Amino acid sequence: MKASIRILPLAIILAMLSLTSSARSADEDTPLGEAMDAIAKAYKALGTELKTPDPARKDAYVKLAATIRDEAVKCIDLVPAKISAMPEAERPQILKDYKTDMNKFAETAGVLKIALGEAKWSDADAAMKSLKEDKSSGHEQFKMEE
Ligand code: HEM
Repeated sequence: MKASIRILPLAIILAMLSLTSSARSADEDTPLGEAMDAIAKAYKALGTELKTPDPARKDAYVKLAATIRDEAVKCIDLVPAKISAMPEAERPQILKDYKTDMNKFAETAGVLKIALGEAKWSDADAAMKSLKEDKSSGHEQFKMEE
């Protein structure tokens, strides 16, 4: 009797722990989630810098754009959690769509890199806007709802 009283709270704690881990966001700690975090960090830093572009910082901008592009290239071969959780028959088409969109995103990041290298700030702004639109559409279609 005494032992079961002691075990019960432990069982409750263990049950709660397993609930919180399954309630954790699906993209956390996945290679895709990590690549996205790197993209987000570089994109945010670039957005802040490009409000007042400084030609002397051009090399740093190019590096940030290269991070966005390189991480996006990695993402092309990763499978979003949302797609893994779909019925098998639906996966090939949506995976194809995801790869197409991620390819386009990586290409635009390449365009951004070139524009920054040439100090063409308005071209860079246009590429940044396009990346932002890709993000909205990509998250809407392929990211698991929180
Ligand atoms: C500027 C562009 C983008 C930014 C700043 C961005 C940012 C993020 C962030 C912060 C996360 C959460 C990562 C985590 O939980 O650790 C995420 C997840 C995700 N993003 Fe993006 N993203 C961008 C573009 C895209 C694009 C273009 C696509 C698809 C074509 C995409 C698809 C996804 C997916 C599928 C996830 C969930 C990860 C998973 O399923 O494992 N994102 N993104």
